Parts: sequence; C-alpha cells; structure tokens
Amino acid sequence: GSTAVMMVGGPTKGTRFRPLSLTLMKPLFPIAGKPLVMHPVLACQKIPDLLQVVLIGFYPEDEMKTLDTALMSRELGVPVTYVQEESGGLGSAGGLHRFRDLLLQGNPDFLFVLNCDVCSDYPLNDMLAFHKTHGGQATLLVKRVDSQTARGHGAVVVEEGGKATGGGRVLHYAEKPGTLVSNTVNCGIYVFSCPSVFDTIGRLAEQKGKAVGFSAAEQALVPTSMLESLSARGRGKGAEDGPARLGMPDVFASLAESKQLYALESKGFWEQLKQPGSSLKFSRLYLSVMGSDLALARARLKGGPEVVGNVYIHPTAEVHPTAKIGPNVAIEAGAVISQGARVKDCIVLNDVQVLPHACIVNSIVGWGSVVGPWARIQGSEDYDAQLGVSILAEDVVVGPQVVVSSSVILPHKEIKSNVSNEIVL
Ligand code: GDD
Repeated sequence: GSTAVMMVGGPTKGTRFRPLSLTLMKPLFPIAGKPLVMHPVLACQKIPDLLQVVLIGFYPEDEMKTLDTALMSRELGVPVTYVQEESGGLGSAGGLHRFRDLLLQGNPDFLFVLNCDVCSDYPLNDMLAFHKTHGGQATLLVKRVDSQTARGHGAVVVEEGGKATGGGRVLHYAEKPGTLVSNTVNCGIYVFSCPSVFDTIGRLAEQKGKAVGFSAAEQALVPTSMLESLSARGRGKGAEDGPARLGMPDVFASLAESKQLYALESKGFWEQLKQPGSSLKFSRLYLSVMGSDLALARARLKGGPEVVGNVYIHPTAEVHPTAKIGPNVAIEAGAVISQGARVKDCIVLNDVQVLPHACIVNSIVGWGSVVGPWARIQGSEDYDAQLGVSILAEDVVVGPQVVVSSSVILPHKEIKSNVSNEIVL
C-alpha cells in the first residue's frame, strides 16, 4: 500500500500571497470551488491501495478547522488527518522525520509527498509505475520550463539515455541555483520507497543536528521553540537559521549523489502558486478539467445569464439573467452578480456584491467586497507580475463608475476615485 502526505506549510510562509492570506491561509484559498489543498488530496484517489492521507503543516489546528478532513476522508474512503509541527516548522523533510511513526502505520511500501501550492494533473499512477521499474529510493516529477521560471525552482539534471521513456536517473540536483543549471525543474510531487527513505532522512537529520549541536532524537521530538532556548544557552552554535530545518532539497542532493534519485517528466500541466495573481492560472487549469461540476453550473443557469467557456458558480451564488460570465470565472458562495454585469477571467470570493453593469476582468475580488454600479475592475494578463491582476482584499468598497486598473487594494478600503498600478494601503 501507499501513504500520501500533503505539505501545507505555515503562517511564516504564504507572505507572498498577501493580501489574500490576511483573510485565509493559502492552503484554504478556494480555487474553482475547493480549498487549494483539496485538489491534490482528491488526486490521491488515483493511488492504488491508499492507506491514509496526512496533511503536515505548522498552522495552529484551530486555524485549520474550516478544512473538512472528515469530508475528504469520506471522498477518499481512507483516513485523512491534519498534524501540526511545532512553531517555525521543521523544514519539509524534518516534518516527515517528526511524524515517521504515524506515516509508517499500516507498513506502506510507498510514500507520496505533494506540495500543496502546485497545480498539476498529478500523474501519480505513472509515477508509481516508473518508480517500481528503477529500484531507486525516490522519483520526482519534473517539467521543462523557460529559463526565467527555472531559476525559481530546484534544477534537475537527468541522465540522457533515459529520456526515451520520459524518465531517467538524476545525475545532479541543485536547489534554486544562482546560475541556470537546467531547464528541467522539480515539480514538488514525489514518490519514495518505504521505509528506506526514513532511514535516509533520519541519517541526514542526525548529521544536520550534529552540525548545530542537537541529536537526531532532539531534532525530531523537541519543539523547535525549546531547541531555540537550548540554543540560546550555548548549544546549537553555528546554526545559520536556528535549529536545523531539513528541507527536501537536502534529501534530493544526497539521494542524487548515491544514485538513488530518479525523475519522470510531466507531460501535463503544472504551475506553482506564488503571488495571488497566479491563482487565476490555477483556476483556469482546474476549471479545464472539472467537466461534471461545470456542467451542473450550466444546467442550473439554463435560460439565464450568457455563459462563455469554463465557469464555476457555487449553488448559493446568484447571477442575474442579463449578466455575462466567463471564460475562466469562479464565483464562490453567496456572491451576487447583478443585471448587466460582465465578469471574465476572475475569482469572485464569498459574499461579494457586483452591482448593475459593473465589469470585472483579470481580477480577484475578495470576501464581502462591493463593486459599485458601472465600476470597472481590470488587470493585465501578466498573472505573475506584482501589479498585473487587480486584487481587492476582504471587504473593499469600490464606488460607482470608479476604474481600478492593475492595482492591489488592502482590506476594508473604500475606493472613491480611479486607481491605476497602485497598492492602496
Ligand atoms: N509541513 C511543512 N513544514 N511544510 C512546509 C515547510 C515546513 O517546515 N516548509 C515548507 N513547507 C511546504 C510549503 O507549504 C510547500 O507546499 C512545500 O512545503 C514546499 O515549500 P518550500 O520548502 O518553501 O519550497 P518552494 O516552494 O520554494 O520550492 C520547492 O517546491 C518547488 C515546486 O513547487 C522546492 O522543492 C523546489 O525545488 C520546487 O521546484
């Protein structure tokens, strides 16, 4: 059997996702009607003999309570649990090390690890099939990207001969190298052999712990805050970033060296969610594979508003029959789109009111915001630019006929005159 882990990170992360993460943490941000993390969780349905899914993060448990793990459990037919790392986070591999006993329950042969902030068609089955052919300890999903994108990711150099099968042994792994090493990058989706990978991680944790003055057991079991106070009392000197965080890249670099690391090339879609604007890309990609949910939305709107392309509309949202929606639009619970409004390439979050004849294009409209009549919220199609997509955070009011262009508006602001290429604090 197999166990799957979602890496959900924690509150010191997700700062790039402001101002949306001020209201809701990134893993819970709705993409096409589901919390971000739900998409990889549902993808785990493809894994044969799945034993359990464990979400590991350092968000306090009560902040994660809106995450319906019971619902996920019912959908997957296996236990789904959230476990919290101590403050600060142990690093992505440190978290696996910390919860080793839980993850080894049921004696899985394979461990899947999925970063929750990527969007993919998750070829988990192909990865498992490939993993079983090579006998190495780990398989990464990799993707060829342009040089600019490559710089922000783990660079993977794959053995030439293996390319015919779409996969091969990894000769070299370098995490976000300063210079371009390879256009093939780590997608943040992995399969490991169990239990051997835990031995590798344990050994690396021990080495890293020694370097900063802690034993592997301390690294694994003692809350980070406690290690920090020990460190203040003279131990742990030489640690650059406090008690050792063990990242997945440390594990990959070591496995590549010992010829235990393999990579399979993704033929499907893949993106990483960084700044809020890129959630429009996620939305477009997930909407493109959501067939039946979208057909339902269309059926419900029959005879109503004009709908173009892929559109998700929550059952409790109201769209006036004279509005025009799509393509690439997600309208969340309780939102109201009034007569004559035009909404295209947008995410409209819960309880937003779009008043008559307003037009919203390439934008994200935050929870409870009001877009006045004949107002225009617009952005550029450069979803990765800092000021590309227009973003209204929670509870923003845009006055009648006001134009907001490629701007970011922080929560609770009232916008009475036009803004362009601005961050309104
Ligand atoms: N539980 C837990 N604990 N999760 C963590 C921690 C931690 O201490 N630190 C990060 N994460 C989660 C993040 O939420 C994210 O889902 C994933 O682990 C990876 O985050 P980072 O370690 O910040 O790495 P990154 O996103 O900058 O880059 C990694 O992923 C890229 C693909 O998405 C690297 O592995 C890159 O090489 C890779 O290209």
